[in-house]
Amino acid sequence: MLVFGGSRSTSLAWDVSKSLGCEIGKSEVRKFPDGETYVKLESKVSGVECAVVQSVRSNDDLVELMLMLDALMDCNATQVHAVMPYLAYMRQDKRFTPGEALSAKTVLKLIHELADSITTVNCHFLSAGGQSVYNHVGFMNLDAMPHLARHIGEKVEKPIFIAPDKGSLGYAKAAAAILDCEFNHLQKKRLSGTEVMMKPKELEVKGFDVIILDDIISTGGTIIEAVKIIRGWHPKSISIGCIHGLFLNGVDAFSGGVDRLVSTNTLENHAAKVNVAGLIGAHLRT
Ligand code: R5P
Repeated sequence: MLVFGGSRSTSLAWDVSKSLGCEIGKSEVRKFPDGETYVKLESKVSGVECAVVQSVRSNDDLVELMLMLDALMDCNATQVHAVMPYLAYMRQDKRFTPGEALSAKTVLKLIHELADSITTVNCHFLSAGGQSVYNHVGFMNLDAMPHLARHIGEKVEKPIFIAPDKGSLGYAKAAAAILDCEFNHLQKKRLSGTEVMMKPKELEVKGFDVIILDDIISTGGTIIEAVKIIRGWHPKSISIGCIHGLFLNGVDAFSGGVDRLVSTNTLENHAAKVNVAGLIGAHLRT
């Protein structure tokens, strides 16, 4: 197999190729003066099984991915695997008011047209790992949450997992089963894209090492609100773990407030301490 890295995931693609013991594909990616993306494959791919590792965080990432996948098809790769460790647009998988575009459907449909297989890590609208089908598109959703939970769990003595909202409760429950400890959740109401309101129900966390897990930290609003509330209950420490660290306000927004901030490297950032390359490599090997 040959692993190509998109420009969003260059170093993760290297790690995936190392974990597979295969070569990294060479390509040229650049921008035209008007902002359009240019992609050229430089490795020979005819008759070769290929994977493209490219997290999709922006519209440009998506276009680059599509160009690369289609070029691989055109150049007669035997199999083309699309691996998007973080895949944007998955937060709109339902229509809340008539006329809304289902971005999750559109994006998955486009990638499905251009690849033989699709792999993501902790897709936002799924609560469990494994093979999944959404709007007739089949894809593999890898679950990195156990790796994140173990990584943080090794650093604390008396863990308790708290989900910031009911949507993340499944993650807290599964993580608690791994570390054989308690779990619970807060109640969140989203007021806008940047504002959330927490309805705290009193939780007994005094003396515990609280671990808050969420799939995505975007503005940080959810986690910062959760930390404010939990701090008032006098835990021994507060650790934050997320799979996809977008950190729109920077990781410094958390400094001082929390004892530990950890994300995976589905997106590169200063808190990315859990490497998902092995998880992706193991799946591509099957
Ligand atoms: C919501 O359903 C997600 O699991 C995250 O809680 C949310 O995306 C985090 O966004 P933010 O960091 O902007 O509060």
